[in-house]
Amino acid sequence: MIALASDHAGFEYKERLKKLLEELNLPYLDFGTLSKDSTDYPEWGHKASAAVSAGECDRGILVCGTGIGMSIVANKHKGIRAAACESVTAARLARQHNDANVLAVGERIAGWESVVDIVKVFLSTPFEGGRHGRRVEKIHSLTEK
Ligand code: RB5
Repeated sequence: MIALASDHAGFEYKERLKKLLEELNLPYLDFGTLSKDSTDYPEWGHKASAAVSAGECDRGILVCGTGIGMSIVANKHKGIRAAACESVTAARLARQHNDANVLAVGERIAGWESVVDIVKVFLSTPFEGGRHGRRVEKIHSLTEK
């Protein structure tokens, strides 16, 4: 299950992502926002990230204007490793090396076709483990109480 959320600045892409995930037969939960009315990204990013943190969703995809605010919000949650990605390379490495479980993208940053590629790579690339497993474990053991 994939947790989706956006603010107003990412709303259009969130709606397009719902169609993309349906085409890919991947189930999702939409944690809002529900319109292009101006709103605050932490509200929505928090809801989706909490669902991933609690294990109710396996992954999260968050959209705001830049992807940066949403990634900051998501990374406040226990067990979350969120990556704001502007390229397919970043998305691939975020999975291979960081085992990122939340992707954040910016509707004001990346074109839609690029976001489609970024999302597909994020959802299909496995974690490499090995030395990266030790490092990922330390992300949490050194920072989470
Ligand atoms: C909203 O104007 C914008 O600040 C927000 O979508 C996001 O880019 C923040 O990081």
